[in-house]
Amino acid sequence: MEKLVIKGGTKLKGEVTINGAKNAAVAILPATLLINGECTIENLPNISDVQISCEILSALGAKIEWIGKNSIKIDTRNITTTNAPLDLTSKFRASYYLIGSMLSRKGEIQVGMPGGCNLGARPIDQHIKGFELLGATVDVSQGKITASADKLVGTSIYMDIVSVGATINVMLASVLAEGTTVIDNAAKEPHIVDVANFLNTMGADIRGAGTDMIKINGVKELKGNATYSIVPDQIEAGTFMLAAVASRGDILIKNCITKHLESITAKILEIGGNVEDHGDSIRVWCNERPNKASIKTLPYPGFPTDLQPQMGVVLSTANGNSRIVESIWDSRFQYTEELNKMGANIMAQGKTAFFEGVDHLVGAPVYSSDLRAGAALIIAGIIAEGTTEIYNLQHIDRGYENIEERFRKLGANIERVKE
Ligand code: UD1
Repeated sequence: MEKLVIKGGTKLKGEVTINGAKNAAVAILPATLLINGECTIENLPNISDVQISCEILSALGAKIEWIGKNSIKIDTRNITTTNAPLDLTSKFRASYYLIGSMLSRKGEIQVGMPGGCNLGARPIDQHIKGFELLGATVDVSQGKITASADKLVGTSIYMDIVSVGATINVMLASVLAEGTTVIDNAAKEPHIVDVANFLNTMGADIRGAGTDMIKINGVKELKGNATYSIVPDQIEAGTFMLAAVASRGDILIKNCITKHLESITAKILEIGGNVEDHGDSIRVWCNERPNKASIKTLPYPGFPTDLQPQMGVVLSTANGNSRIVESIWDSRFQYTEELNKMGANIMAQGKTAFFEGVDHLVGAPVYSSDLRAGAALIIAGIIAEGTTEIYNLQHIDRGYENIEERFRKLGANIERVKE
């Protein structure tokens, strides 16, 4: 078993470069199944979710060649089976994108029930509603999802709730459908735009991604033969921005799209931090104890739920009493119990957490309950007095490449230790 050992009390200083977005990568990889040809993907984060996605694609018959640490070439001309390995597909959430892609390309697919972070109930009714309206039959039983369609026909689909996954999945299913599909009340996250840009580069006809209405004109085939570079990770950039504030440090975050970070920038300014926006890089620094804040997570362009735990660390040592309302997930405050072990004073009740800001945190052994909780605990360990040990690193490795090395370059005293 591995753990991270952090000797805390560091003000993070220096530069960090942001990798390609995890949530775009885990959708773009299955999207390659729509292509009857080859494509090259660059700026791919080298994380365990991406490695598993590649294993699944290989098992379906795709030929994958890594042509650099963050670039791959994929040949999806010869897809040999529609049974995705159940053990691998149940390991992470985004395996549900295989359904949209394979329905569109092959007319059938079987995957394991998607796993991923335990954030409370994670229904997929909106995905299924979309597939059925396009003409597919979907069966969910015995821990697996089976979907099939003789043909998919474009139609109007209104999403009852704003869902990132359902928007992308229905978009994937519509790319090769007959006629035009319109998705109404679509999610607007940057990685939705990125998946649409990828598909258009490969030959699809998708308009309106990034707004709440996406129109997909079905095409006969995606030929590929193109290269695509994945958008910088908005959540990774936000993680380092909040690490700068929490540690009273000064970090220049390079290779990001600052437009995607507006909600985080606004909150950092509100609590007394400083932000310098250079368009494709952003400098964040904070000289004093941040002020209290009230935050509600919302779909993009609102404050992202995936930065809520990292913001929780900032507020745990802010001046005064703060409040976070988590409006996306039922169970995303598990990290607050770990912060309380480190001396924080947080009371989580249902979807609201109340923070009484303390002067400082103190190192302790803590357990990461999910990916972003893990990132939050790393920040907490870096700012705490004494030594913090973080367990359950498999969650963190799902979404952050070389995380300890990158924090070390910013001055953190952090080691990965095998027990
Ligand atoms: C994606 C992200 C995840 C992020 C979340 C919200 C990926 C791989 N993961 O997850 O990191 O936290 O967006 O920004 O991109 N819902 C339904 N029915 C559905 C689908 C969703 O009720 O069919 C609900 C969910 O329970 C949740 C809300 O809609 O309350 C948003 O979920 P959704 O946007 O779909 O999240 P994911 O795509 O799973």
